[in-house]
Amino acid sequence: MDGAVNEPPTRATDLVRRWTPVLRDAAVDTPRLDAELLIAHALGCDRHRMFLDDPILDDAQLARAESLLRHRSTDRVPVAYLTETRWFDELELHVDRRVLVPRPETELLVELTVALAPQDATVIDVGTGSGAIAVSLARRRPDLRITASDIDEAALDVARRNADRHQHPGGMGIAFQHASLLGDWAGEVVVSNPPYVEETARSSLAPELDHEPDHALYAGNDGLDVIRPLIQQSRERHVGLVLIEHGYAQGTAVHALLGAAGYRATTERDLAGHDRVTWALRADLWPLSAEQQAALRLLA
Ligand SMILES: C[S@@+](CC[C@H](N)C(=O)[O-])C[C@H]1O[C@@H](n2cnc3c(N)ncnc32)[C@H](O)[C@@H]1O
Repeated sequence: MDGAVNEPPTRATDLVRRWTPVLRDAAVDTPRLDAELLIAHALGCDRHRMFLDDPILDDAQLARAESLLRHRSTDRVPVAYLTETRWFDELELHVDRRVLVPRPETELLVELTVALAPQDATVIDVGTGSGAIAVSLARRRPDLRITASDIDEAALDVARRNADRHQHPGGMGIAFQHASLLGDWAGEVVVSNPPYVEETARSSLAPELDHEPDHALYAGNDGLDVIRPLIQQSRERHVGLVLIEHGYAQGTAVHALLGAAGYRATTERDLAGHDRVTWALRADLWPLSAEQQAALRLLA
């Protein structure tokens, strides 16, 4: 008798069971979810379909799944870069290493902009990256005239792709600008999730961040190297409403910078209870209109 033994077929759920502890041991935050997402991606279906069918993986699918899982466990590559997909505000976005992976906290910035931007306002999304904010705003507020701007031309390619994919049939469309900060834009509303991580924090951050573009994350020793001139330019151009995402420990500093620039500012917390977005209205435009107040109440 020769010793050759046929390997039993591998079902999707077998692979999830095998890889979840491997990812957990590699200190991945959500090991089971990540295993499911990557295996479903290798199968070319979504997680729910995968569990309904529990298919047997053929050799090519198995090799593809194991390669993705190895990249996740060994190199800590973010799932979004491995699947080239990220959901944001109910939109499926293309993402790759040219752009920051959009975070759920940023949806608060979108919610506030949707609530506060005046009808038909001219809006700029500074540091658009994947276009998450601009595309989401264009879907939810088709009346707005939106410019998506970034210092990085490669990021703008990703944003354009996402804008094409999710274009609102009756919307104004999105204009794109390759520039630092406001460039030559003029208008009423500035919204931005700029880089805001302190350089000095680099070595203490999760290894996943090493895969994201440096210029999307870091902004000098106090993390305010982009926010500071952005507020300055907003003041000089008489922008009425400014909404900025920032680090959980930067609320007081951003609030003070906006106050010094003549704005009346409010800092909002994210779902984890951290200071996350500061929005500010030019003092002469205060108080909020009845519509703005009503929209904010809906968010509370
Ligand atoms: C934190 S990422 C935000 C990406 C996207 N808006 C999001 O929320 O997922 C910051 C983005 O700002 C861009 N950026 C960095 N410095 C900039 C500057 N001075 N002017 C315009 N964009 C800048 C980066 O290229 C990057 O795409």
